[in-house]
Amino acid sequence: MAQTTAPTKTILRALAGETLATPPIWMMRQAGRYLPEYKATRAEAGDFLSLCYNPDLATEVTLQPIRRFGFDAAILFADILLVPQALGADLWFVTGEGPRLSTVTTQADFDQLKPVDDIHETLNPIYQTVRNLAGALPPETTLIGFAGAPWTVATYMIAGQGTKDQGPAHQLRINDNPLFESLLNLITKATIEYMSAQIEAGAEVMKIFDSWAGSLSGEAFQKYALEPAREITQELKKRHPGIPIIGFPREAGDQYIGFHKATGVDCVALDNSVSAEWAAANVQVDGCVQGNLASRHMVTGGQDLIDETRSIVKAFSKGPHIFNLGHGITPDANPDNVQLMIDTVRDAG
Ligand code: CP3
Repeated sequence: MAQTTAPTKTILRALAGETLATPPIWMMRQAGRYLPEYKATRAEAGDFLSLCYNPDLATEVTLQPIRRFGFDAAILFADILLVPQALGADLWFVTGEGPRLSTVTTQADFDQLKPVDDIHETLNPIYQTVRNLAGALPPETTLIGFAGAPWTVATYMIAGQGTKDQGPAHQLRINDNPLFESLLNLITKATIEYMSAQIEAGAEVMKIFDSWAGSLSGEAFQKYALEPAREITQELKKRHPGIPIIGFPREAGDQYIGFHKATGVDCVALDNSVSAEWAAANVQVDGCVQGNLASRHMVTGGQDLIDETRSIVKAFSKGPHIFNLGHGITPDANPDNVQLMIDTVRDAG
């Protein structure tokens, strides 16, 4: 639900602009393969997509890292590629490789996609997971919902898989710009409806994942990263006054500067390509930031983890900050290192 009175949960306080003595903490991909209990539930579900669409099991895996670590936020267990699937794309996951989708590269492909109003038919189980979680989480834990940003989702829909340089999406952007823009526009509209339904089901914060924003620059960054994030943010805030939004234009580099102002997001999530000192001076000056410990510390641990965690907490200590990794935790991470990170953040504050 949208926050209309002064928030009490720590993450909502940081998102409202408060500087807290101890930053609240959660972790991207906190429900995932580094946890034995996740692997057990995933095996019970069969495959990853069956897990996403099973509200009981998706609720269970979302709660697992909250039970184990007491994070300040839970993030809905789902995937950014459910939106293309709801729009009619075929989607499957190849073990050890990643997602595969039917491609959209021609007008005929685009014309076969479903209208935005039809997405809920596929996505209803996700809203049920959100409702379950809203009733099941401890009162101090914030529930974060999410979707992929239109550009990032489009890169998968156009290429039919993850790509190193987003080449196929850039090709369509350049060679058939009207089709590219139609696709981006459709994803933007679907994303607004999807996020809006998550908020109605009880999600308290929305995060927009633009994992491939870093491959856009100049005017293309303005049009295809900033503008869709602005449109989604403005529409969600119009429909749900006060709903806090986190933007994550990953690897945006110096294009992180001004992102709060250009889009209206309440918080900008930072990856590891920018230093905390630089981001404090250039991004946190405009509002809350989230990040940005390198995920590898969850594998390597030790004094290096402690030193780096302390230095990030210190660098962001003069403004609103939510502690997180710079990207998702990896399957080879050691859960003991997650606990060490949390203890270090809570001691350092
Ligand atoms: O953060 C969370 O814990 C919430 C759930 C979540 C998942 N994916 C679960 C997941 C979120 C927020 C995502 C976002 C997502 N999905 C992004 C954007 C963030 C990022 O990582 O850059 C992207 C690009 C995707 C698409 C996707 N999903 C890929 C490329 C892969 C394969 C790579 C991999 O890590 O296996 C996935 C699968 C996926 N999504 C898993 C999880 C837990 C692993 C699935 C499994 O259990 O095998």
